[in-house]
Amino acid sequence: MIDLKVNIDKLQGFVDKAAVYAFGQELVLHQGALMNKTGKGNDFLGWITLPDEIDEAMLASIESDSREIAAKADIYVVIGIGGSYLGARAVIEALQHNFAGLQDKTSRKAPFIVYAGNNISEDYLADLLDILDKRDYAMTVISKSGTTTEPAIAFRVLRRHLEQKYGQAEARKRIIAITDQSKGALKKLADAEGYKTYVVPDDVGGRYSVLTPVGLLPMAVAGFNIREFVKGAIEMKKLVTTAKTIDENPAFMYAAARNALYAGGKPIEIMVNYQPSLVYITEWWKQLYGESEGKENRGIFPAGVSFTTDLHSMGQYVQEGLRVIFETVLSIEKPKRELFVPSEADDADGLNFVAGRRLHEVNRQAELGTLLAHVDGQVPNILISLPRIDENTLGQLLYFYEFACALSGYILDVNPFDQPGVEAYKKNMFALLGKPGFEKQTEELRNRLK
Ligand code: PA5
Repeated sequence: MIDLKVNIDKLQGFVDKAAVYAFGQELVLHQGALMNKTGKGNDFLGWITLPDEIDEAMLASIESDSREIAAKADIYVVIGIGGSYLGARAVIEALQHNFAGLQDKTSRKAPFIVYAGNNISEDYLADLLDILDKRDYAMTVISKSGTTTEPAIAFRVLRRHLEQKYGQAEARKRIIAITDQSKGALKKLADAEGYKTYVVPDDVGGRYSVLTPVGLLPMAVAGFNIREFVKGAIEMKKLVTTAKTIDENPAFMYAAARNALYAGGKPIEIMVNYQPSLVYITEWWKQLYGESEGKENRGIFPAGVSFTTDLHSMGQYVQEGLRVIFETVLSIEKPKRELFVPSEADDADGLNFVAGRRLHEVNRQAELGTLLAHVDGQVPNILISLPRIDENTLGQLLYFYEFACALSGYILDVNPFDQPGVEAYKKNMFALLGKPGFEKQTEELRNRLK
């Protein structure tokens, strides 16, 4: 059953509903181009059929690995950057206890996941080593290309640490590599060392890989039900790949609404959540949409806020700053927990008017009040709602975002599956580090920095 809903009632006054529905015919064509592989980037469409292709053997193997890891590790290090870690982190943080890192393993019932290789900070990695010195751990290194600098450096450091701690033979059993089937430095190393490996299919780009072992292995190690996650994605796939109208197809509705707003002078989209556990869903969404659409001097700029926290920082700008933004609110109807505001005899803080009510009710009224205030402040709002956060609804949500992103990229007439702009910083970094082959650029860049 599909639980996700998209509501565009709060666009009124900014773009006409007719402007949204005007994308209807075009979206049917783009849906066809994605399904028939006739559009831009059509060699990277493997993600569309991933939910149906995940077989029993792969799920069983991931589950069995995760049981083995849980038996010997208290901490599981996920090494990867961009699409090679954000999907797993988004789902794990949405599902886990908000203070999972402070729980003991018995209450958590699974290893605690930490992330590395998503930055080059010396302090970050050195601090992580301090923790790993004293705790049992295992790790996965995830890189489709097998050559990305950030995870490669982290893996060098952590592999050395793991080998020194457990000895080479045991260290090898504690490493799983997720990479290309045959190419890349990581694949070569994994074969030479005899690591267990999983494959990132050739036709699935990093940011669309959450339904491969890239996302599924860390989720399973963290103790979550990957079968339900896949099931949710299968349900959403059935709907968004077949439904032909904006009213029936939530991915059509979202892609059309955001593009109507973009065309109407709103080039910045802010994803809003009211649950701190959803911050990494926003981070994953930012990468998906930013890398897929931001090219050829166009694209909606994806940003994110966590309310009500950021109502005390970014809220001012959203309410009264430059009127170039719209918001998309990810609204969760039911929280996982239950907590009531206590009553106090002297009512010193004047809050007895909410005593006995759930915190969620207060949060919900903050959400509705903010929605109206921002719409009054000329910030149109798209609403995406889910009844609850669990593996199934997250599977629905992430597949929905992926399909809507591909449609949206086609509306913008860009290739949503490449990221040529990411290379620019890498070339400069290699040149400045003096990598062989970059000698000419090294000199030129060093002169520019003088
Ligand atoms: O979406 C993408 O393709 C990128 O964000 C990649 O996932 C990221 O650059 C990491 O690449 P790799 O998995 O090759 O190390």
